Amino acid sequence: MCYAIPGRVVALRDRLAVVEYYGRRKTARNEWPHLRVGDYVLAQGGFIIEILSEEEARETLRAWEALFRELAETDARLSPPALPRPGASPHIRRLLEPALEGRPLGLEAIEELLRIESPADLDLLYRTANHLRHRHQENACCVHGILELSNDCRRSCAYCGIRAGRGDLFRYRLSVEEAVDAAGEAIVRYGFRALVLQSGEGAYPLEDLMAIVAEIRRRWPCLVIASFGDMDEEALDELYEAGARGLLLRFETSNPALFAHWRPGASLDRRLRLLRHAAGRGYLLMTGALIGLPGQTLRDRARDILLARDLKPEMVSFGPFLPSPGTPLSSAAPPALDEALKTLAVLRLCDGGGGNVLVSTALETLHPEGRERGLQAGGNTLMLNATPLRYRPHYALYPGRAHASESLERQIADTLTLLKRLGRAPTDLGLSADR
Ligand code: 5AD
Repeated sequence: MCYAIPGRVVALRDRLAVVEYYGRRKTARNEWPHLRVGDYVLAQGGFIIEILSEEEARETLRAWEALFRELAETDARLSPPALPRPGASPHIRRLLEPALEGRPLGLEAIEELLRIESPADLDLLYRTANHLRHRHQENACCVHGILELSNDCRRSCAYCGIRAGRGDLFRYRLSVEEAVDAAGEAIVRYGFRALVLQSGEGAYPLEDLMAIVAEIRRRWPCLVIASFGDMDEEALDELYEAGARGLLLRFETSNPALFAHWRPGASLDRRLRLLRHAAGRGYLLMTGALIGLPGQTLRDRARDILLARDLKPEMVSFGPFLPSPGTPLSSAAPPALDEALKTLAVLRLCDGGGGNVLVSTALETLHPEGRERGLQAGGNTLMLNATPLRYRPHYALYPGRAHASESLERQIADTLTLLKRLGRAPTDLGLSADR
């Protein structure tokens, strides 16, 4: 199974290439000095990872074409412009108008959308977000892999099930060789081209992380996304040198007081500085917040959405807070499914509809229909768990994690079945060219 469709380079400017496949155009960052217009490439997460021979590319494109067209038709059928159902409020219709015209939404409007409760208005919001997703991303659905290298952590975040000091948790740490082998399996055997490497904070010395990233990049063409919590700017630069090109780091909450309260010893300011530094260094950013973190107000959540958009990430990653045993927040309530869906939908509406919006594993865990509903409310990105099965249950951010015991093969099969039903193509050629 291949998760990247080849495209032909139709224009090159500076470090950006415009890539075309089946008549669609996307832009992707280019680091290949000898890349020329007319070359065929694979791109992931907005990044060119491989130049292909014309023969190989044409063969893959031919093999995909019929299915691609069929999927696109299904998606177009399922994502028409949203006509309000009886009972939808004219006020909500008016609030949605700027988004449909590509104009930004302000804080007040976002908060009002997050306050929606009536089924007719919720339906209108979700269908509008889905339509915008289709308009800007067509049926492309990014499917990345995530490899959880270690659940060791030096932080004591109040919400997190792998926090330091949780004595009842078995701690594991893949060796450099195990980590590279597991990445190789995901890339070679299962066709992943974009891999998130994640661990608790401070689980590895920097040299080990660099060795893992460098060896993966040396052996296979892929996008490596680092997700190791806070680190200093120099360390981030060194990881970039080693070959990491994406950074997955949520700011968790845009409220500095909440941040400091639930994440002792850490500061929002510092995290934002790190994110901005990473963007300046050339990292593709993936960031976002927890939905329904105890103490969060709707205004906070509206600000989370605006902050995420300000950071101009390649992908926004928002997921519901889920109470975890062994933490100070173990008896707090998780948000309702609609709270999480509204957040995804508003994220999609927020900057005119472009960008990638993740349907998180936490959303899938919150509700059995979380994945499908998220994909129909503006979401267009999924992550499958590529952690070796024997370690997976111990990466216990929260209990009952979706896919904790499913082989990667099973996850891929289920994902493809769902994407086929929704008419989504598991591909990722980067940012849409109109963004
Ligand atoms: N519920 C949901 N998400 C959680 N995370 C950590 N603990 C929880 C929880 N209890 C998320 C954080 C972190 C990511 C790796 O996991 O947002 O950024």
